[in-house]
Amino acid sequence: MPVNAVILAAGEGTRMKSKKPKVLHEILGRSLIEWSVFSAREAGAERIIVVVGHGADQVRERLANQSDVECIEQTERLGTGHAVRTVCDAIGGFSGPTVVLYGDTPLVRGETIRALIDETRAHHNACTLLSMRPGDPSGYGRIVRSESGELEAIIEDKDCTPEQHEQLTECNSGIYCFCGGRLTQNITKLTTNNAQGEYYITDMVGVYREMGEPVAALLADDYTELLGVNSRSQLSMAGRIMQSRINARLMDEGVTMMAPELVWVGPDVTVGQDTELLPMTMLMGTTSIGTDCVIGPNTRLTDCEIHNNVHLEEVVGIQAVAEDGADAGPRAYLRAGTHLGPKAHVGTHVELKNSYVGAGSKVPHLSYIGDTTMGEGVNIGAGSITCNYDGKNKHKTTIGNRVFVGSDTMMVAPVSLGDDSVIGASSCITSDVPAGALALERSRQTIIKGYSREKKEQE
Ligand code: UD1
Ligand code: MG
Repeated sequence: MPVNAVILAAGEGTRMKSKKPKVLHEILGRSLIEWSVFSAREAGAERIIVVVGHGADQVRERLANQSDVECIEQTERLGTGHAVRTVCDAIGGFSGPTVVLYGDTPLVRGETIRALIDETRAHHNACTLLSMRPGDPSGYGRIVRSESGELEAIIEDKDCTPEQHEQLTECNSGIYCFCGGRLTQNITKLTTNNAQGEYYITDMVGVYREMGEPVAALLADDYTELLGVNSRSQLSMAGRIMQSRINARLMDEGVTMMAPELVWVGPDVTVGQDTELLPMTMLMGTTSIGTDCVIGPNTRLTDCEIHNNVHLEEVVGIQAVAEDGADAGPRAYLRAGTHLGPKAHVGTHVELKNSYVGAGSKVPHLSYIGDTTMGEGVNIGAGSITCNYDGKNKHKTTIGNRVFVGSDTMMVAPVSLGDDSVIGASSCITSDVPAGALALERSRQTIIKGYSREKKEQE
């Protein structure tokens, strides 16, 4: 039977003190709700239903490109049990293993959920849940076990007596696997007879116990996987755990980091063998880095494609490509559409946008190159700029192979410089330069001999 997953994400998340819904806060560029969806998918769920409520439209929009996810709205938020019942009514009941998890538990691994599903199937349980022993149990529902160790009930933190608060240290993680058929038949038995006057999904344990249906709690080895995010400090804590998990995997795969706590790599980023990531490096989105690169320090790349043996120091790159042996920085800004050919060199205080820099070409100092195609073996002198914008439209600059552009040259687009042409320093180039020509645009230098001495004599 295919596995269903229901992710509860209708709550407001008051403790985040935020204008946006809690589940849209991000860890390494991926929202909390997306982390939960990925965990459910990794666990093998084929049908993933997200219960939305607070900020429903924003949450739906964020999930719009996940084709296996359906959103169902819980208009009145009467508790976690009510949220599951809302889905049950909307889809006409569940069949097959049905995993319920919360949208604020981003660290859970797919394999941990899979173990829960296997346990439920193996023992024909009506419900198996994951329990944990966190350092501080406050806020969590507490697990009550019989003398023989069987799961008896979950008592919510707010419903505990002072004694129970002290004695019950095993907690409910909020991740469950139900038998879908039995859940559909019995979910109507939940009541609101508790401190918060809500329908608690946790009360299904008591419902099943009364009916003699088997229920169990599986104690997780690693409670940090089950950390709930209810506040900004828990968000940063979860972020640190995810960061160290990703970095540990990369180091296992042969990536060097001298200070992994100062390197942030998103979940969809790939990094090749023998690449070194230096401190204060952030690799986000769909960035891919090849082998033998040195990236950082102080480098942020989003959706970039970096091939092998590339060195980037103090670079900000967005949707940029760098081919084998290229290098940039310190302090270069590679904006969208920048493409560095093999062994291209981009130096300090250089900004590139929507431009191709051919193999072995150099833009070493203080330049802006936009909407430009540059051939191979070009040298752009310091302080040279393509004037690509006339106030209304953007225009193209084409630079051939082996062109030498002297320092402080303005290339007023649209303009093209032919192969092997030479531009004298400080020229403002407004018309095309033929191949092999020298273009010079500046007034002649005047020399007045003895000027300083004559001036002094007049004083
Ligand atoms: C819940 C559990 C508690 C567990 C803890 C683990 C219940 C009653 N309690 O408590 O046993 O230890 O999580 O983190 O389930 N939600 C809805 N609709 C609602 C109410 C809540 O979708 O009507 C969603 C929230 O958006 C949230 C999740 O359900 O993602 C859990 O709700 P929350 O209020 O955070 O429950 P906790 O008090 O943390
Ligand atoms: Mg919670």
